[in-house]
Formats: sequence, C-alpha cells, structure tokens
Amino acid sequence: MRTSPLLLALPALSAAQFEQIPFYDQVKGFFAQASNTISSAMPSAPSSPSIPNPVAAGAAKIAAARVQRLTVENYNDILKPGAATASPGIEEWMIFVTGGNKTCFGKCERAETAWNESVALLSASTSPPNLAMLSCEQEPVLCNAWAVGPPTVLHFLLPQPLADQSTPATTCRSFGLNRTTITAPEIAGIHLQEKYLEKTPYEGFFHPFDGPLARYGLSIPVGYAIWGFSLVPSWAFMIAVSFISRSLMSRRMGGGAPAGGAAPAGGAAPAPAAAT
Ligand SMILES: *[C@@H]1O[C@H](CO)[C@@H](O)[C@H](O)[C@H]1NC(C)=O
Ligand SMILES: *[C@@H]1O[C@H](CO)[C@@H](O)[C@H](O)[C@H]1NC(C)=O
Ligand SMILES: *[C@@H]1O[C@H](CO)[C@@H](O)[C@H](O)[C@H]1NC(C)=O
Repeated sequence: MRTSPLLLALPALSAAQFEQIPFYDQVKGFFAQASNTISSAMPSAPSSPSIPNPVAAGAAKIAAARVQRLTVENYNDILKPGAATASPGIEEWMIFVTGGNKTCFGKCERAETAWNESVALLSASTSPPNLAMLSCEQEPVLCNAWAVGPPTVLHFLLPQPLADQSTPATTCRSFGLNRTTITAPEIAGIHLQEKYLEKTPYEGFFHPFDGPLARYGLSIPVGYAIWGFSLVPSWAFMIAVSFISRSLMSRRMGGGAPAGGAAPAGGAAPAPAAAT
C-alpha cells in the first residue's frame, strides 16, 4: 500500500498551522483593540521581506509622530521630569535603543518594526508612557555613556523634584530584546501588563541619572572616551601600515624620506624620522 507524500505531510502542516493561526489571531486581536486603522491593514500571513509591510509603514508614521529621538545634546532636556507632561507625580518613559549595520550587525529591523507597532498599543493605554528612541548608530557616545546596546528597551520612572529642589532617585530598568523573536505585544506588555515590575531596577555605575558617572557629570566624557577607544584599531592600523611601509621604503632608498605626499595623515609623518 502506497501512502501519498501529500498525505504524510498533512499532519505536520496542520500542526504548524495550529500553532500559527491562533498566534496571528491573537496579534490581530491585540491590534484591533488598540487601533482600528492598524488592524485593518494587518496582513493575515507574514509578508516576505522584499514586499513593504503596510503595517510597518503605518506604524513607522505613528512612531515618527510620537517618539522623540534622543541625542547627546537633547537627552538632558527631554528626560527631565515634568518636561513633557504637566501632570504631577512620576513620569514613565520607554526608550527604544536601536542600531544599524555597525552597532546591531544589521539585525535590528525586526525589533524596530515591533517597537514601531508597539507605539500604537502603548499610546492607546489609559496612562501612556513617554516614548523616545536612541540610535546607537547615530549616537554612539550616548549609548556608550549609558552602556547600552541594541536592541533594548529602557524603562525609566522619573520622579518630580521635591520641594527643596533635590531630585529623588530615578528607577531604571533595561530589557534586552530577542532579535529573532520579539513582537510588538511583548514590548507593549512592559507597560500595559506592568512587566517592568518583575525586573530588578539597575543601580550600577552607568545609571543614567543616579550612577556615580552621572552624578559627577562624567557620563558623556566617559561615553566619548569609550567610543574613542572603539575607534582606535582602525587608525592605529593605518599608522602602523604607513610606519612600516615608510621605513621599508626609506631603507630601500638609502635612508631618504619618500618623495611626494603619500602620507595619509600628518601625524604619521614624524614616525620614520624618529625611528632612524
Ligand atoms: C520605525 O519608525 C521610525 C520613525 O520613528 C522610522 O524612521 C523607521 O524607519 C521605522 N522602522 C521600521 C523598521 O519600520
Ligand atoms: C547595511 O548593510 C546592507 C547589506 O550589507 C546594505 O545593503 C545596506 O545598504 C547597509 N545599510 C547602511 C545604512 O549602511
Ligand atoms: C531568541 O529566541 C530564540 C527562540 O526562542 C532562541 O533560540 C535564542 O537563543 C534567543 N536569543 C537570545 C539572544 O536570547
């Protein structure tokens, strides 16, 4: 008796569908609750990466309108309790840390899409958090100053200054996102389901507000220093190459300095002279 290969494949197929369909319905349900416009655009199957995802495109527009971009220059003014909302009490912030080819190995796109979609969910909350994003590709200094890497969601609770102008401690939590599995409801759950309460707040050296670096105003200088060190190998390598090739050339040419402006950097020029 021959069994058709199609028949053999059927149980596997239905098992896979069984796992997938409820998940998509769940996500669709989640989006339908949060935003009708987005749910109508939600595709029923995952789209291939080459076809622009209408949800992602719509979500990116919403995200662009609601999410502030942090830079070394503006983060201190933006992340100030009472700066964004006039309501008293503790201000909640969610900051998405992303990156590009250099800082995230080009693998942050899924997380970025999930974040953009989660913005609609978060904004529909009865007490929406303030939203910001930080690109380590564009702001490597700030990422180094806070010692964060993409893709991450930072969750801050910024208290209002007390009557005596002192600032109570800020609560800071960091959620590393799984680049391959992260979904929008998962990110939104940090706030909507108060998942952040399950995480121990960070109280270390690089705490953006209360850590020793921040208290002495050293976060940004240290961020520059770490960033600078990360750049060393490339130019150190160039100087080494220029040093070696110049000293080889000058040896071949009997000690004379090579003619022409072949030196890639002025700083490298004195090196062969010092070596001979
Ligand atoms: C997410 O939204 C931002 C705007 O805030 C946009 O620049 C970015 O391209 C979007 N990313 C994705 C992967 O859709
Ligand atoms: C990132 O890398 C991919 C493939 O290596 C390339 O197609 C893309 O243009 C790069 N993006 C940027 C912003 O450099
Ligand atoms: C992300 O999730 C996948 C599937 O659950 C797992 O195999 C992988 O190890 C996770 N990656 C990280 C960095 O946790």
